[in-house]
Amino acid sequence: MKLTTRALFLKALPASVLLTGFSSLLLSGAVSAQDSAPTFYADALPLFQKNCVACHQPDGPKVGGITAPMSLMDYDQAKLWAPMIKNALITGYMPPWGAHERHRGEFKDERYIEDNELATLVAWVDGGALEGNPADAADQSGQIAEAGGTVLPDSGWWIGDPDLVVQFDRPVYVKDDIMDWQPTVQMPVPEGAHTKPKWVSKAELAPGGPWVHHIVSSHMGVGVPGRGPFTYPEGWGVLMPEDPFITVNMHYHKDPGEGTAITDMTARRLRIL
Ligand code: HEC
Repeated sequence: MKLTTRALFLKALPASVLLTGFSSLLLSGAVSAQDSAPTFYADALPLFQKNCVACHQPDGPKVGGITAPMSLMDYDQAKLWAPMIKNALITGYMPPWGAHERHRGEFKDERYIEDNELATLVAWVDGGALEGNPADAADQSGQIAEAGGTVLPDSGWWIGDPDLVVQFDRPVYVKDDIMDWQPTVQMPVPEGAHTKPKWVSKAELAPGGPWVHHIVSSHMGVGVPGRGPFTYPEGWGVLMPEDPFITVNMHYHKDPGEGTAITDMTARRLRIL
């Protein structure tokens, strides 16, 4: 009985409705063709490996004193961070690189992401940060972080072996009630280490901890945790007079409250031309 009703009903439908029904079938076919939307394993992971994983890996290296907060080799973590990843990419915050695009090619160890790679990663986020099939992940082991400057040198310092290390004389105490504070601190240059003016070609910041928001110094540029080292083009540098001190303006930032006080011991490592 039911069958007959349906048959009758079908017969009664005008052709246009049938056609609409058909085309919406086609449409849903198109939606499931979203299989071609970028997936983590097929599309995002190789780009993370090329551009990000040198830092964003489990137990990653410290960059300017700070370890990257998540592993981008791991789908669950990458998905969790997806909105932040898009934001970090389109604002140019990641991969961390201080120089403007117009200086591309001028600096050693530069760290740029290609436009098409950036677009693919953003499309992956916008497409819902799909996982895809782990079998799509080609063996990338040899490719991790081949991009210049992302591999931490054996010295453990991004700028390689420093010629000069300066640090606070004694730890700076940041009290419980402080949220933001910008003291000026002197870093004494070790005796005999800097007797004539020299050209600084690279500078790396080793903040005492994540409470260091940024550091400004006339000789060393601006240091922001996670920014990595400050590198001048080959043959260029900033003249550092033979001062007994290097003066830095610190910016501390932390949540205030009982028991939140910290002592900070920030250092700077310099390469001289
Ligand atoms: C040279 C090391 C390095 C590389 C390469 C790098 N990151 Fe990071 N990243 C960090 C560090 C360190 C932090 C944490 C400190 C910070 O937020 O500045 C961070 C933080 C982040 C954050 C959190 C930002 C926030 O607002 O809290 C995101 C998202 C991120 N990275 C995405 C990426 C992506 C995507 C890439 C590759 C395209 C990448 N990173 C490449 C070192 C790196």
